[in-house]
Amino acid sequence: MSVLTSFVHSSIYDYRFEHGRRFHAYKSGENDYFTPNDEPEQLRLDMQHRCMYLASGSKLFYASLEAPIRVLDLGTGTGLLAIEMAEEYPQTEVIGVDLSPIQPNWAPSNVKFQIDDVEDEWTWPENNFDLIYSRTMLVGGIKDYRKYFEQAFRHCAPDGYFECLEMTADIRSDHYKIP
Ligand SMILES: C[S@@+](CC[C@H](N)C(=O)[O-])C[C@H]1O[C@@H](n2cnc3c(N)ncnc32)[C@H](O)[C@@H]1O
Repeated sequence: MSVLTSFVHSSIYDYRFEHGRRFHAYKSGENDYFTPNDEPEQLRLDMQHRCMYLASGSKLFYASLEAPIRVLDLGTGTGLLAIEMAEEYPQTEVIGVDLSPIQPNWAPSNVKFQIDDVEDEWTWPENNFDLIYSRTMLVGGIKDYRKYFEQAFRHCAPDGYFECLEMTADIRSDHYKIP
């Protein structure tokens, strides 16, 4: 069942606690994401955003777009990327979606946050977004990659972009050959 553009219940704040860490409540037990959503994790996400921004040469996105009109940020986390995008491009409408309601209330008016599971059927319009981001969330967050990519491409505008930035989980060493 899809609930992407309908209202969610206040039970999204009935967080689950394990080993002293706090985890998302929405879809808990059904689609559990492995990282916590408490303050230390939010700080880590903010730092990670800054690192990714600097590592990409102070770019908010790589796609060759002058100024996208409609942007979707999948797994937005604390929403910094969505907020900075909205600040830099005041004409752009940005939607950030996440399992956890950890985005600030003071975001610019052209960014909206939604709580949902992006593995559900999307109810945003098809052929719509100039830019769909998926940044550092696939690992551990998505079970059905084929469906995820298919939905992303279906909901991109005809000349839009799906931009996916992931980290590699390969273990490497400069002095030891890992078998
Ligand atoms: C590592 S964080 C990345 C946050 C942000 N994209 C960034 O780059 O800073 C991954 C985020 O994806 C969210 N997430 C994971 N699986 C999800 C799903 N199926 N639906 C919606 N959000 C999901 C998590 O709650 C978490 O906030």
